[in-house]
Amino acid sequence: MEKNLKKVDIIFETSDRCTPLEVLEKTLKRSPDDIILDLIDSGLKGRGGAGFPTGLKWKFTRNETSDVKYVICNADEGEPGTFKDREILDRVPEKVFVGMVICGYVVGAKEGYIYMRGEYNFLLKGLLKKLDDFNQALRKRNIDFTIYFKSGSGAYICGEESALFESMEGKRGEPRNKPPYPTVAGYNGKPTVINNVETLVYTTMIFHMGAEKFKELGTKDSRGSKVFSVSGDTPIAGIYELELGMPLHEFVNEFGDGDTKAVQVGGASGHCVPRKKFNDTIIGFEGIPTGGSMMIFNSSRSMYNVLHDYLEFFTEESCGQCTPCRVGCQQLLKGIEAVKRGERPPSYLDDLKKLTATMKIAAKCGLGQSVGNPFNSIVDNFREEIIY
Ligand SMILES: Cc1cc2nc3c(=O)[nH]c(=O)nc-3n(C[C@H](O)[C@H](O)[C@H](O)COP(=O)(O)O)c2cc1C
Ligand code: SF4
Repeated sequence: MEKNLKKVDIIFETSDRCTPLEVLEKTLKRSPDDIILDLIDSGLKGRGGAGFPTGLKWKFTRNETSDVKYVICNADEGEPGTFKDREILDRVPEKVFVGMVICGYVVGAKEGYIYMRGEYNFLLKGLLKKLDDFNQALRKRNIDFTIYFKSGSGAYICGEESALFESMEGKRGEPRNKPPYPTVAGYNGKPTVINNVETLVYTTMIFHMGAEKFKELGTKDSRGSKVFSVSGDTPIAGIYELELGMPLHEFVNEFGDGDTKAVQVGGASGHCVPRKKFNDTIIGFEGIPTGGSMMIFNSSRSMYNVLHDYLEFFTEESCGQCTPCRVGCQQLLKGIEAVKRGERPPSYLDDLKKLTATMKIAAKCGLGQSVGNPFNSIVDNFREEIIY
């Protein structure tokens, strides 16, 4: 059931009725099993893109027997068009920290790490001071958990969870084979919960407001709200927290410039939705899921150029470990260039679509597997802009 577009204020809400540390104290009085049940009941799904149920992730990690476990906050935020995690870390970092500590308590971890992209290092000075104060506040309350920072070096692939672990371990950031999944063998080969920045804040806020209240927002498959990074041809670019399940046409009415011809939902690796499909598209896990990037294009934009930019990005950022992705990204890029120059017939685009199908099956990680999302949606809906 779709919802009307509704702005909400949960993530950035800063009323002094309840501080993050008070939420922490209150929650740590409950049993880990009770907390997990609440989180599962809330229906919260990961906000990093894949949408895995957060309560289950915590439960699987809790069920592992290991002396050492970790909690990792994924603040790599490399998806083009996404800038909400930066804002969250800058404005409400304590809510992120508290989510990590509650997670540590639930799964039995004593260390947490925030892996933040190197491009955000300008935030580091302020964040480290707040983190130092927070770690001290934990020690004062005899809470045995410490949070550390690690900086990435600007590779998009290091946002993929297993590549992120490799990077944290001082190795080249390349995805691992799965299984084993991080809940079993993550950072340093130990059971690890890895969650997106925004997911962790929602856990804090669910323990503050209660699962029932959170569930009132959104739809059956997409509970709650989400922070969106809105960019492109819009007079009001920025960060907005919206209820999940809204139809895309309402989003466009609110944020477009009156001449919107397409919205790229979910960043470069997401889907491009043309104007004729705005009415039928729901933003949520039952429709088009998104890590939060909404790029709006008006009729002045060349969708060939948009696709070309995305393919250049993937060609550059492919880690090169597996052939379908390393070679596939290059061939897709060269392929549309050849079609645009008239050196290949328009039907060559259909051969390239078959290549994306192969990449979806054969590429080792989400980067290569999802290149077909922008490729097919742009080629199918804007074919006349790609051909000679
Ligand atoms: C190429 C690639 C890049 C990714 N980048 C990010 C990222 O920057 N931030 C993020 O939270 N998740 C990213 N992910 C998803 C993570 O692998 C992982 O699913 C996520 O951190 C889990 O957190 P969640 O359950 O809270 O969503 C990326 C995945 C892929 C395949
Ligand atoms: S799909 Fe691409 S990014 Fe992922 S492992 Fe293969 S080459 Fe690396």
